[in-house]
Amino acid sequence: MEEVRSDIPFLGSGIIYFDNAATTPTPEPVIESMLEYYREYSANIGRGVHEATKRATDSFESSREKIAKVIGCKPGEIVYAKNTTEGLNLLARGLDLEKGDKVIATILDHHSNLIPWQKLEEERGIELEIVRKCRDFEIDPQAVEDAINERTRVVTMPSVSNAFGTRQPVEEVGRIAEENDVLFSVDAAQSVGHMPVDVDEIGCDFLAAAGHKGLLGPQGTGFLYVREELTEEIQPLLYGGGIVRSVGEHKCELVNPPQVFDAGTPNIPGIIGLGRAAEYVLDIGLENIEHQEQKLVNRILEVDAFDNVEVYGSGSVQKLGGVVSFNLKGLDSHEVSSLLDEIGNIATRSGHHCAEPAMKHFDVEGNVRASVHYYNTIEEVEKFLEILGEISKELAQS
Ligand code: ALA
Repeated sequence: MEEVRSDIPFLGSGIIYFDNAATTPTPEPVIESMLEYYREYSANIGRGVHEATKRATDSFESSREKIAKVIGCKPGEIVYAKNTTEGLNLLARGLDLEKGDKVIATILDHHSNLIPWQKLEEERGIELEIVRKCRDFEIDPQAVEDAINERTRVVTMPSVSNAFGTRQPVEEVGRIAEENDVLFSVDAAQSVGHMPVDVDEIGCDFLAAAGHKGLLGPQGTGFLYVREELTEEIQPLLYGGGIVRSVGEHKCELVNPPQVFDAGTPNIPGIIGLGRAAEYVLDIGLENIEHQEQKLVNRILEVDAFDNVEVYGSGSVQKLGGVVSFNLKGLDSHEVSSLLDEIGNIATRSGHHCAEPAMKHFDVEGNVRASVHYYNTIEEVEKFLEILGEISKELAQS
């Protein structure tokens, strides 16, 4: 833990960084791997025969192996993206969905897993159904099954709600999707790097995640896992150089997946950094990360006992990822987040967390979100509890 903290100078600046669900700071070894690329071999990939381009290509490609180890898949099933959003857009745009095909999403989905499907509803006439039935901010798998009909092609949901922190029953829904022969896609932005994730155990066909959240990789990186048998079924978002075998004036022959998704010069240093980050979290151990986050979340949940505090989600640590969402009755979430920042240098996120339909459904205007990672400490949580306790006491007296 000390070693990890010393790898992240940002954490030594006095900040208590509880905004890890938005993005995470980058450890030195990850930064070093990118600097090494820039300093020693900053050539393009897959174009040319010189040593630097070969090294860059190998390094870029080896990140697929490293990411694959994090989610238990094959390297060829990893498609690079610039974030979770791009992975989800690639899926929505790249599948051959037609008028009348049905996609099932959930009320807990982030905008990035709603808007791409909404756009297909507008443009191609697909039917988008949103499953709303929840218990304790957890989607009811039976409601998902009930929504499936003979036109359903895709079921999609988050693994952990980014707005409320609750873990979602992805394995149960994965079984339902398989039994009903529909494709299953998971938005794993808030679970990858925070806990063990295995695509076979989930039973998903697609899984999107970011590099810059749980994985401690650089911003501008992410990936979409596509089950091997389906890689040929997804059309790329971009066409251009670097993905062709031959090009004529009116036709071209493209390379195979996953490289076919890398048109143009990609974010080479970012993807190299993402591979290093995957190694870094694997070295810490995903079980260790999950265990530490649960310890921290368990203490943060003590806010439930404060005057005027309402905690969302089950309030039980096993039901949550590394996220606790709450409100102080009588204060706007942005005010609470600002006070935590001003008084304690504590960074949290407030507002609707890019999940407006979820917020509206549960009649919450916005909430304060404290989200942790492995390097956060119990001492930091104690300081957070102390300051939030003071704010809540003052509010109760006013
Ligand atoms: N999706 C990120 C969040 O939930 C940005 O904060």
